[in-house]
Amino acid sequence: MDATALENEARTAVAAAADLDALDEARIRYLGRRSDLKLALRDVRDRETGMTLNAARVAIEEALAAREEELRRAELERALVEDVLDVTLPGEKLHLGTLHPTTLTRRVIEDSFLGLGYEVLDDREVETVEFNFDKLAFPPAHPTRSPRDTFFFDAERLLRTETSPSQIHIMERKRPPIYMVSIGRVYRRDEITATRFPIFHQFEGLAVDENLTLADLKGTLLHVMRALYGEERQVRFRTHFFPFTEPSIEPDVSCPICDMSGCRTCKYTGWIEMGGAGMVDPLVFENVGLDPEEWTGFAFGCGIERAAQLRHGIPEIRPFWENDLRVLRQF
Ligand code: DAH
Repeated sequence: MDATALENEARTAVAAAADLDALDEARIRYLGRRSDLKLALRDVRDRETGMTLNAARVAIEEALAAREEELRRAELERALVEDVLDVTLPGEKLHLGTLHPTTLTRRVIEDSFLGLGYEVLDDREVETVEFNFDKLAFPPAHPTRSPRDTFFFDAERLLRTETSPSQIHIMERKRPPIYMVSIGRVYRRDEITATRFPIFHQFEGLAVDENLTLADLKGTLLHVMRALYGEERQVRFRTHFFPFTEPSIEPDVSCPICDMSGCRTCKYTGWIEMGGAGMVDPLVFENVGLDPEEWTGFAFGCGIERAAQLRHGIPEIRPFWENDLRVLRQF
């Protein structure tokens, strides 16, 4: 075989290789296991021929390496010019998790009570008849004591129907002065409708101290309502009845949707009902061993989903429990 002719042919092919793939083809063709050169090298009988063929092999290898270097550099030059990365382009938007509207509202409530020096509790959800009803002075035949209204585990234990049992727990645990708010889930055997759901959240406040009056209750609720719905809000009281307060009232807040000019949310009254409240009934003080002559107290309880509905203009309670991402992503 003519080593020089082969070397020249290989050099021409290497120089002509326009890209790395073409260069690989040339490498296989001239230096591959079945290339003429490799086959000839295997059959070498004399030193002279061996040296000539090896020199040709080395020359072709060098030509390949040089061309490869050239092609890689050209590729890099091209990429630097063509594949420009615009670091100012907006990136792909990742959806970060957001807080649930119930949690957002709960935090506003917690913050406003912490600002008043209240301790914030997260009490038990499984209660006893004693704490959920008896010590709160519910009469024996009260309808919510029935398994038609309340989820019972057995004759004694149930899912709390309100956060009010927290009042009893804290009064049994510590001496006044007491300023606490208990926030959490409550359970009622209600059909699911636009406004009712068998699970929801309440916040329950209790203050026990000397010489507390309805005016203190009103000032406290005004503070919280303004934190929830804006500084212009007003609060008014309507008389009502609850077994564990005397007198009992229902607080209304001036409608934050229409600012009292009348809308569907406030049913054109300018006011929205916010829950229940009152002065702690002397019977309740006696049930926890506090002297009603010595101590006064006020209490209140409000729904949190209801507050979140008002804050965010959510017309129903159902979306709070459906975990529909199209809804949750809006918060
Ligand atoms: N627990 C009552 C309810 O769920 C609300 C309530 C009324 C709470 C009066 C109170 C209160 O603390 O004093 O309807």
